[in-house]
Amino acid sequence: MDNLQLNIAKQLILSDNKFVLGNLSNLSSWIYHEFDAINWAGFYLYDGSSLVLGPFCGKVACTNIGWGKGVCGTALAQNKTIIVPDVHKFDGHIACDSASNSEIVVPMYLHDKPIGVLDIDSILLDRFDSSHQELFENIVRHLIQTNGNAISRLVANNE
Ligand code: SME
Repeated sequence: MDNLQLNIAKQLILSDNKFVLGNLSNLSSWIYHEFDAINWAGFYLYDGSSLVLGPFCGKVACTNIGWGKGVCGTALAQNKTIIVPDVHKFDGHIACDSASNSEIVVPMYLHDKPIGVLDIDSILLDRFDSSHQELFENIVRHLIQTNGNAISRLVANNE
């Protein structure tokens, strides 16, 4: 794992710790620009029944993803990171940008409660490996420690 990247991400989150939307926006932008060949990076937040679009960088995206639907909904329902080397071969993949070819989705849970996902798409096939999984899971763990309560309050019905 790249410790420098992890530290930068942690500083990004901490530098504006009080305003969760700023933190999620900055993280999305940082991932989008820091890593090569990324065409979408951002968050979907869980409102108690489905994932709703949160802060992101990239083209306009679908606003609602059902529990267990698409890569995002599957990663959340299974509470496990999913790396998709070729999105065209993932049954049920929800295509928002036809340029996307591979994807990684990290679920976000606070005290065993689903609160959202981090979703990152690439124009390249097979863009993400276990080192990315480790890095992004670490970033998400830190994000939840510092901003988890605020994230869970962002969407109305998430009791
Ligand atoms: N690929 C996602 C949908 C969201 S877009 O990639 C931004 C999915 O199948 O869950």
